[in-house]
Amino acid sequence: MSLRTRKVVIIGAGHVGSHAGYALAAQGLAEEIVYIDVDQKKAEAQALDIADSAVYLPHRVVVTAGTYEDASDADLLIVAAGPLPDMSKGQTRMDTLRQTVEVVKDIVENIKKSGFHGILVSISNPADVIAHYIQTKLEYPKEKVLSTSTVLDSARLRRAISQEIGVDPKSIYAYALGEHGESQMVAWSTVMIAGKPILELIKQKPEKYGNLNLQELAEKGRAAGWHILGGKGSTEFGIGTAAAEVTRAIFSDEKRILPVSVFLDGEYGQRGVYASVPAVVGNKGIEEIIELNMTEEEKQRFHLSCEIMRENYQLACNL
Ligand code: 2OP
Repeated sequence: MSLRTRKVVIIGAGHVGSHAGYALAAQGLAEEIVYIDVDQKKAEAQALDIADSAVYLPHRVVVTAGTYEDASDADLLIVAAGPLPDMSKGQTRMDTLRQTVEVVKDIVENIKKSGFHGILVSISNPADVIAHYIQTKLEYPKEKVLSTSTVLDSARLRRAISQEIGVDPKSIYAYALGEHGESQMVAWSTVMIAGKPILELIKQKPEKYGNLNLQELAEKGRAAGWHILGGKGSTEFGIGTAAAEVTRAIFSDEKRILPVSVFLDGEYGQRGVYASVPAVVGNKGIEEIIELNMTEEEKQRFHLSCEIMRENYQLACNL
């Protein structure tokens, strides 16, 4: 019998990092969680708070605050540091690029020195560009660096569709693609319910699906983050659970298809850019990229989103 424990290091003990850690603990996805934050007191406080909750959780988990030395034998590293967009200044996620890169520069140097050799899941915004930036600066295998990106927006989209048609979101196959941000798009021609394209259902059952406003639904998915941010100053539960979902796919070698942000190397006619597309996620990280059959118009919107991320990645590299 081989016994092993799963160790996760979370960099950033703010709203997102703390909720990601709690989701991992509550779902029994790690035996050891270590927080690293420039604010050591905060890292210790979040760790202690989750450790207290673990007394009543069904799975044993040790939660502590640590240092980059802890990353040397970690199986998974979650990067959740950096600012949330400031809505009072009308900032988008992409507008936080400069600030996040400043924070991530140090993080990358520290990860390099630590000897970390596991899988890295990046959440920090702008999610796709930062994942790409980290992968390049770390000179790390591309399949081992991914971002939660539109795993979150896709949940928001599926929830919005579900509320409209009265079908459980788990039975709806719909992805927000491209950027975890303003240029994300939905390829409606690929959205399926019970294996049937939603566009076909609209034609076949106009009495039930005829009134669906697809543009409005896509917009609900995209704008959900702003509603949450505007209402309570942070988003945390959705992203925390999305991070746990990706973690489970990795640790259980699920080969689960999730719309994570990955390095595109010719897929979708794109090269040299990180973007969210459905990919098979397992214990090696990204195991396969699935190419959806999009219409020409959908492809154009996807390319536009990739172009925005490519430009911002160049910008990040020059900072
Ligand atoms: C979210 O979409 C703000 O990126 C964060 O919840």
